[in-house]
Amino acid sequence: MWQLIRPYIRNIYRILMILKFFTYDYIRYVKYGGWKENMNDIELRNYYSAMVYHGLEKSLSYKKRNHSSGWRNAFQILNLLKIASKNRNIGFHDKKSKKVLEAFINLPENIHDERSEKIKQEIVSLHIQELESDRNYGAFKYSVDDYKKGILQNPEEFFYSRYSLREFKDEIVKNEDIERAVKLAMKTPSVCNRQAWGIYHTSKKEVKDIVLSYQNGNKPFGEHIPNLMIVTTDLKAFFSAEEHYQYWIDGGLLSMSLMYAFHSLGIATCALNWSAKPKNDLEFRKYLNIKPNHTIIMVLAIGYPDEQNKVCASPRRPMEEIFYALEKR
Ligand SMILES: Cc1cc2nc3c(=O)[nH]c(=O)nc-3n(C[C@H](O)[C@H](O)[C@H](O)COP(=O)(O)O)c2cc1C
Repeated sequence: MWQLIRPYIRNIYRILMILKFFTYDYIRYVKYGGWKENMNDIELRNYYSAMVYHGLEKSLSYKKRNHSSGWRNAFQILNLLKIASKNRNIGFHDKKSKKVLEAFINLPENIHDERSEKIKQEIVSLHIQELESDRNYGAFKYSVDDYKKGILQNPEEFFYSRYSLREFKDEIVKNEDIERAVKLAMKTPSVCNRQAWGIYHTSKKEVKDIVLSYQNGNKPFGEHIPNLMIVTTDLKAFFSAEEHYQYWIDGGLLSMSLMYAFHSLGIATCALNWSAKPKNDLEFRKYLNIKPNHTIIMVLAIGYPDEQNKVCASPRRPMEEIFYALEKR
């Protein structure tokens, strides 16, 4: 009898657990998400500002741009800048948005528009300090040769030589290598270029021990991992219900970039899942300085490879099993 009803009970249990775990994510999204749009919060406003000025950047980048487009975003940026100036808490994206707005009102088709004059006067009155020698904003020309700089001599060699490594050389990864990989990975695309990331790094044994005691996939190699990262995304950067999975996506992309960045420097990694129970996720946060609004995407083990290593083959499925021709029904 028990054998017969066991699968049903297990399934009911699982359904309830799924509901519980989704509820945890739901509560976190409601509690920490940016949906309240409190523009006095410098972090939240800067994410929002990135979203708005990126709309203008796109408008500036089209070969045949629509001359009447962009004004809504332009006035939105102006409003955000007014809030930043009033609060005297001006962030990176606030400053960039000002530059993009100036580029927009100075377009030949806009410069004589009276709205441009109004915006120009208002910007001056806000006294927003510029980023030093800042040329990196708006849109710029990019040739096919520029694109081709990314071509690898042998892409197969690069991609097929990455393996998850679980046992590393007994040596802490140098800070300069860590920082180089982080900078490279920060070129990862993100929704509206919001870059809602938080990367936490440690090589301290007492901190690694805490992380690994809450992570369920590091036995028996965990205690010898030289460096650990926790990749997170900031819920503050996501404003609408439609975006409720966006932070997982943006965090996943960053994680992969980190792994490839390290790989490009000859440094090995192993992704470690954070499929944690809500109870564990909550408890874990009591011991570490992870911001409550940062959702943990995954843990990353990092280290230099030994001279000789052994890795799992982890064979890939035949491509035909995952690659479909997209057709109309
Ligand atoms: C999100 C994610 C979580 C993972 N979690 C673990 C883990 O907890 N423990 C582990 O040993 N490996 C973990 N892995 C590594 C996978 O087992 C490994 O990537 C997979 O077998 C493919 O092998 P490769 O990375 O060598 O190509 C994880 C990988 C990913 C992408």
